[in-house]
Amino acid sequence: MVSLVNPELIHWCIEKLTLNPQIIYLPTVDSTSDEAKRLIASGQHAELLILTDTQTHGRGRYNRTWHSPKGGLYFSLVLRPILNLDSIALHSLLCSCAVAKALQNMGIEGVGLKWPNDVLIAEYKVAGILSELISLGQDDYLIVLGIGINQNTPLNLLPEEIRFSATSVLEHLGSITSQEELLCNILTSIDFWLETTKSSGSFEMVLSDWKQRSATLGSRVRVDDGSRTYIGVAQDLLPDGSLLVHTDEGAITFCIGDLTHLHQD
Ligand code: BTN
Repeated sequence: MVSLVNPELIHWCIEKLTLNPQIIYLPTVDSTSDEAKRLIASGQHAELLILTDTQTHGRGRYNRTWHSPKGGLYFSLVLRPILNLDSIALHSLLCSCAVAKALQNMGIEGVGLKWPNDVLIAEYKVAGILSELISLGQDDYLIVLGIGINQNTPLNLLPEEIRFSATSVLEHLGSITSQEELLCNILTSIDFWLETTKSSGSFEMVLSDWKQRSATLGSRVRVDDGSRTYIGVAQDLLPDGSLLVHTDEGAITFCIGDLTHLHQD
């Protein structure tokens, strides 16, 4: 049905970048991020790109399942954090911008970003990012950036309960697209943003790109911070990647949270 990822083409793409991960392709795995963590625990501390065609236990935020049928693009990138150790949220935003740009380059209109790290096409979720910080010792960390994209995924392969809020590139464009090309575009964009951020010494340009692509800023939102739910209007993305929301109870800053866009008719 679909052409599965050809790792040779990914090598060719990576040769041109500053990023230089070891590429590990597995036809199937429980979770590319769990595989990354196992490799790190076994002593592999260099950059890694773990890539698969299908996951049996794909994970999303809040321990939700990330349904990973064949046709989707699933990978985890292991990197040293740049600039400072507490910028994991900013690394996720950087990846969201890279995924959004790559989808836009495929000619998809209506790509938007939902805080903190969902990529939408016309309000339907097409991709998600799960970032995890792994401590190797004092002040020594690796970041595992797990990215899942519903690319050549027929929607009927996703469970019914998420079909109302999900989409895929296939569903949107009506044709199969190259996984190597999408992955290469994303890696090229991640590489660009990492280099820009390192050389400028700040994530400011990533934040500005995220704001321009945001579907969240200006929207009425519901945010669950784990202890309670707030409703308000998303006002701004702050320099540390947190979201400022104007609620009836005043301005509240969320570092983490589960956010829903509320639509007024
Ligand atoms: C989310 O939207 O909640 C994040 C989804 C992240 C899914 C990707 S797929 C590759 C990597 N492996 C996983 O188990 N999860 C991430």
